[in-house]
Amino acid sequence: MANEGKKLTKTSKTSTKPHRIVVTSALPYANGSIHLGHLVEYIQTDIFVRFLKLTGKNAIYCCADDTHGTPIDIKAKQLDIKPEKLIEKFWKEHTKDFKDFHIEFDSYYSTNSKENKEYAEFIYNELRKKDLIYTKAMQLVYCEHCKRFLPDRFVKGTCPECKAKDQYGDVCEKCGNAHKTTDLINPKCTICDGKPIEKESTHYFFKLSKCKAQLIKFLQKKTLQKEVVNFCLNWIEKLEDWCISRDAPYFGFEIPNSEKETGSPKFFYVWLDAPVGYISSTANYCKNIAKKGSEKDYWMPKNKEESEIIHVIGKDIVYFHYLFWPAMLENAGIKQPDKIITHGFLTVGKEKMSKSRGTFIEARHYLKYLNPQYLRFYYAANLTSKMEDIDLDIADFKTRVNTELIGNLGNFGYRTISFLNKNFDNKIGEFDVEDKKVQKIINEFTETAVKIRKNYHDFEFREVIKDILHLGSLGNKYFQDSAPWALLKGTKEEKEQAHKILSFCFHLLKNLGIIISPIMPKFAEKLHKQLNLKDLSWDDIHFDMKTHKINKGEILVKKIEDEVKKMIQENAPQDAESKNKKEKSENNTDSEFILDLRVAKIESVEDHPDADRLYVVKIHLGKEKRQLVAGLKKYYSKEDLTGKKVVVVTNLEPVRLKGVKSEGMMLAAEKKKDVVVLEADESKIGDQVYVEGISLPKKFSTITFDDFLKYKMKVKYRKVFLVGNEEADKVKFLKTKHEEIKANINDNAKVC
Ligand code: MSP
Ligand code: ZN
Repeated sequence: MANEGKKLTKTSKTSTKPHRIVVTSALPYANGSIHLGHLVEYIQTDIFVRFLKLTGKNAIYCCADDTHGTPIDIKAKQLDIKPEKLIEKFWKEHTKDFKDFHIEFDSYYSTNSKENKEYAEFIYNELRKKDLIYTKAMQLVYCEHCKRFLPDRFVKGTCPECKAKDQYGDVCEKCGNAHKTTDLINPKCTICDGKPIEKESTHYFFKLSKCKAQLIKFLQKKTLQKEVVNFCLNWIEKLEDWCISRDAPYFGFEIPNSEKETGSPKFFYVWLDAPVGYISSTANYCKNIAKKGSEKDYWMPKNKEESEIIHVIGKDIVYFHYLFWPAMLENAGIKQPDKIITHGFLTVGKEKMSKSRGTFIEARHYLKYLNPQYLRFYYAANLTSKMEDIDLDIADFKTRVNTELIGNLGNFGYRTISFLNKNFDNKIGEFDVEDKKVQKIINEFTETAVKIRKNYHDFEFREVIKDILHLGSLGNKYFQDSAPWALLKGTKEEKEQAHKILSFCFHLLKNLGIIISPIMPKFAEKLHKQLNLKDLSWDDIHFDMKTHKINKGEILVKKIEDEVKKMIQENAPQDAESKNKKEKSENNTDSEFILDLRVAKIESVEDHPDADRLYVVKIHLGKEKRQLVAGLKKYYSKEDLTGKKVVVVTNLEPVRLKGVKSEGMMLAAEKKKDVVVLEADESKIGDQVYVEGISLPKKFSTITFDDFLKYKMKVKYRKVFLVGNEEADKVKFLKTKHEEIKANINDNAKVC
């Protein structure tokens, strides 16, 4: 930037070392959208890297999508697409979300890449050379229907300890007891509801227990957070070897020679190749983006001091980053992280984000209502270097944005620029260096900038914001106390005096813009554009500009009205009724689901007097009882049917079948001579059965059998979905308020 004359003040000189810094955030899973919880971390890291760059550091921000593992494999199967397609879709979505929150990666790669495979294998082979890998046969949980081994999260059952129902395979949420999946009482596969069995498989283990001394040494690094190190030291006492392989089907990298060595192909467990993504993303940066240097300059430098590796992670993945990862690196001859910053979790109103309360907010949803810089500002205002949870308090969010960001900083900017626009033809001149008030402010500003620089460096962003606001207040107070508007009306000298005041305000504003730019890059850019400046660095924080001409001012940021409330309200799932109303007013009636399907309980079953294949069934629908004729005699005994909760089309015009009246139709699914009724045993009698996202008419009218035939329903994963409504990414299953409808029959059975 233009700056003539000698520099009066300087906050401190930028570094000129050829030192390379790579900063990372944890890699988000490629099977879900980015939400406000994730953004804590990416915004935190982005602020830090922008600060490093602003101070002339040779830093890069590397990240990637974490693309492997069972959930991604299963999700892709459910959607009937290749996992590659699924991760590609999320890569696009994630990169767009990040960009729109002004998060600027130097490399955003994928763990499903050639480089990642090479480095995962490289590390694995190095560990083998050191005799740190062995195989062991284990008893695992297997679902014969799904034909896969089930990870902990895919098995639910009764807790063996406290007998709480519906608990995951690894730990009971009621009593906190950790157990083995194989100990669950009455275990169920969460994909198909079937009963899993135990099955043996041979797996690879990493002898972590051998790395204890190494890890204790690693944990002595002064740059690690004490509170985190302390509980890692506790874990180390109980450090067990780590199983690093998984059975097929798995979306991941096949382990070389595994079939020969273990009897069946094995894949690297997702957590083995996920952190390797940090290295391969750096490789992507060097090879494809910067087109210079090598990832080895960062990860395997000749001299360890030549580079710096800094990870930013959430508190849920400490174990992997403080123990597994450093052990892998050390034993593969790769540099260990110099610093790991662990942040806490985002709460909304001090509570866990919740879908039903509407506080589980996806990045894209937020952007429909609010400026991304508000969130950056608010997160910065709440982030420290400690592993504390950070709370998004709705009222506080609005107040801070409106009073601090807009009332303080925005106001100082706007009043300064518009005053210069209106009264001084946009010109900046010299200010009064001899003025005591001015000198005092310069001193305070300079000292505070030094403090801010340190706090940015130490991830103490809450302090940074406090100090920035203090500087903003200094500016506002100076403007107010000096009352330049009054001087305008006076003598020529008084007019000149007003110009000096504004020229000083200009300096304060320019400097403030630089200081806040890591947190609000677009705000700073807009401000500097109005000041007719660009590409400023930390070194440009000074009071030395003598002449300059600025541009026209505009409002920098807009006040929040009731957008926050709306954002949350419109994020909460509406109950079926209000949802119908809303969708009805938005959609035309063509897309309505006109079958009035209800859960009914079978009260009694009798033989049809005149037909061999038919039963006469009495059902209870909550408000009424009815009689149906059903062709189920070949498939169910009367006893089997009695008491079942089934699904009935209740608005079909009544018919007589071989002389007996039938007031509705019980739904069943059929495949190759196999027939089962659809069931809803966890629902209430009379519950409405519907498809998420498809509206129901306010009042159902009677329909014909032909109307019914327009709906094709099929079975997948023992559930029922409406054919033709598999929106790009989701199969929509029939459900009640309480559960998804079950059909205990193979995939692709047709509902009739
Ligand atoms: N894929 C792993 C990380 C692999 S790193 C080699 C993972 N992915 S994640 O998508 O679940 O989370 C990514 C990051 O976001 C993690 O650091 C996690 O702690 C953070 N957060 C996810 N939800 C969060 C909140 N609600 N609040 C704050 N951070 C949260 O873990
Ligand atoms: Zn299953």
